Amino acid sequence: MSIHNLIANDVQKKIFLILLTLSSFLFAQTNITIDLDKLGGHIDPNIYGQFSEHLGSCIYGGIWVGEDSPIPNTNGIRNDVLAALKKLEVPVLRWPGGCFADEYHWMNGIGPKEKRPSMVNTNWGGVVEDNSFGTHEFLNLCEMIGADAYISGNVGSGTVEEFANWIQYTTSDGNNPMADLRRKNGRDKPWNVKYWGIGNESWGCGGRMRPSYYADLARVFSTYAKNFGENQVYKIASGPNVDDTVWTDEVMSIAGKMINGIGLHYYTNNSKPASDFDESGWFSVIKKTLRMNELIEMHSKVMDKHDPDKNVALIVDEWGTWHSVEPGTNPSFLYQQNTMRDAIVAACNLNIFHNHNDRIKMTNIAQMVNVLQAMILTNDEKMVLTPTYHVFEMYKVHKGAINLPLNLKTSNYTFGEESIPSVSGTASIDSKGTVHITLCNVNPNSVEKVKLNLESYLNEKISGRILSSSKMNSLNSFEEPNNITPVEFSNFKFSDNSISINLPAKSIVALTLEGKLNSTIGSPIKVTNPKPKLNFNYYKEILMNLPNFDELKIVKAGLIDQVKLPEGNDGADFAVKYSGFIKIPEDGFYNFYSKSDDGTKLYIDDKLIISNDGRHAPIEVQGFASLKKGFHKFELEFFQAGGGVDLKASIEGPNLKKQEIPATMLFHEEE
Ligand code: AHR
Repeated sequence: MSIHNLIANDVQKKIFLILLTLSSFLFAQTNITIDLDKLGGHIDPNIYGQFSEHLGSCIYGGIWVGEDSPIPNTNGIRNDVLAALKKLEVPVLRWPGGCFADEYHWMNGIGPKEKRPSMVNTNWGGVVEDNSFGTHEFLNLCEMIGADAYISGNVGSGTVEEFANWIQYTTSDGNNPMADLRRKNGRDKPWNVKYWGIGNESWGCGGRMRPSYYADLARVFSTYAKNFGENQVYKIASGPNVDDTVWTDEVMSIAGKMINGIGLHYYTNNSKPASDFDESGWFSVIKKTLRMNELIEMHSKVMDKHDPDKNVALIVDEWGTWHSVEPGTNPSFLYQQNTMRDAIVAACNLNIFHNHNDRIKMTNIAQMVNVLQAMILTNDEKMVLTPTYHVFEMYKVHKGAINLPLNLKTSNYTFGEESIPSVSGTASIDSKGTVHITLCNVNPNSVEKVKLNLESYLNEKISGRILSSSKMNSLNSFEEPNNITPVEFSNFKFSDNSISINLPAKSIVALTLEGKLNSTIGSPIKVTNPKPKLNFNYYKEILMNLPNFDELKIVKAGLIDQVKLPEGNDGADFAVKYSGFIKIPEDGFYNFYSKSDDGTKLYIDDKLIISNDGRHAPIEVQGFASLKKGFHKFELEFFQAGGGVDLKASIEGPNLKKQEIPATMLFHEEE
């Protein structure tokens, strides 16, 4: 029974709600603990991906003005937008759609512009698409802003041959018809195009398919998506709409082994224009956007069933606010303004994505310029950066960093009879050991007093920035472009391991902490004569836990190129100790993982980094170390006690994706 049912009449109910609201004004307090010894995985930079579709003025006018335009441009791309995108460090850009992708025939968009045929963009206002922005223009844009390309293939009205040829055209360096055609069109070297989408919304505008039919098509398209040279195709299947777990289940079951990722589309819909709202509109949009967390959990659970090792990523390749268009604009162009509420939506979603970094490896907010929750709005030669742009810019410090899970207890922000948590946040530690904390107070009425405790870390210096606004629906217009921009924030006090912050109403605060990791180890050691491979000792014992290896008899010893079971082990009861050195490629913060059945312990420079001891099924445990470039002492202990057996040691760090510790990093010293 809910509390509301216990309250007898309307008057009592009103008094109760007033008291509840008052208490949130008076005692708005949030407590957060961050333990630097407990890491939450790698935040894939691609979580900050963008999406650009041939829709309204996203491409034409927003990005592409053509070489002959009076608007200053570089090879047809407007310079102001280019500079803003460079600053944002966009990691990956999805194109050409959206719904447009399944009507797009890429060969119409290559070669001399005057010879490119036109088409009608039936999805978005029936406008004429002259194909002047095509494959070359898009991939040049990606190169100019330093983003990876994510091309959505046409499955709905295209053919497998067309899709396969597109990959060959863009990525092959060989002598074949497509690579030759590309050269003829002025591009000698192939591009690197890693990400390929197999259709878009194939349950909807991309073909109205049923899941099993689509899944079979995904297998076919995936089969012909070939790798050329160094270019390894990462295949992204069209995924579920919102909460359609049946779609996820079918696609994972039928095509799960042939794809690298599956998309999820979830928009925060709102039937009014972006800035036309009061507190009820503020509350309902933010509440709606928080559903992203539930959706990710729901689809991840289905994916876990088919893919327990999480080889397939969940890619939220369309998300953001979808308001009613700005009054007076073409309803098919999806042009909307962007207020402080959109900034809060962006921050809340990024926080959610970080917390699911085991599955979420890419997201693409819709869309980059002039469409839906855009980063940038343009009007002829004018450009304005939206509050959402500023959130992405403030949050970019989390890209590629290690997530630090927050133990967060926050007050409720109550509106009417509903409540949502007042504060949402994220913390991460980057490869230099700098800690970044971003906090968002969704409550538009009250300051939140935040008490932040840090374990295993000593603060030395803190700086902060804040994004906030005078009104809930403040925005950046062409006339007043700087209403909402980040400014310095210093309303905090800190000691060695705690920070007290007054988090203003409707604000997003980013703190940068420079201090010392208590758990830091660091300097390299001198190894006189390093040679590839680790030493290993093999022991034959019946064990319940890791033993004191000095007390055991060595049955066999030798060299091994990686942490794996020595050949000739008898599978049942034994133990192995690996020792030697790990060669760290550059200064930074490294994550180590040990997956074992049964127990393992990992020591770096004699410090225990991972304790995964005891008899158990395969469990992966993570630890980390801040290490300087060079050799570090490496020891891994393992024991096997009957039943299943498994052993894998992995590493991830700066410029090093999570991978089994490669043989090239492991050494022993020869006398
Ligand atoms: O982003 C706008 C549209 O939303 C996309 O074209 C489509 O995929 C989705 O329905």
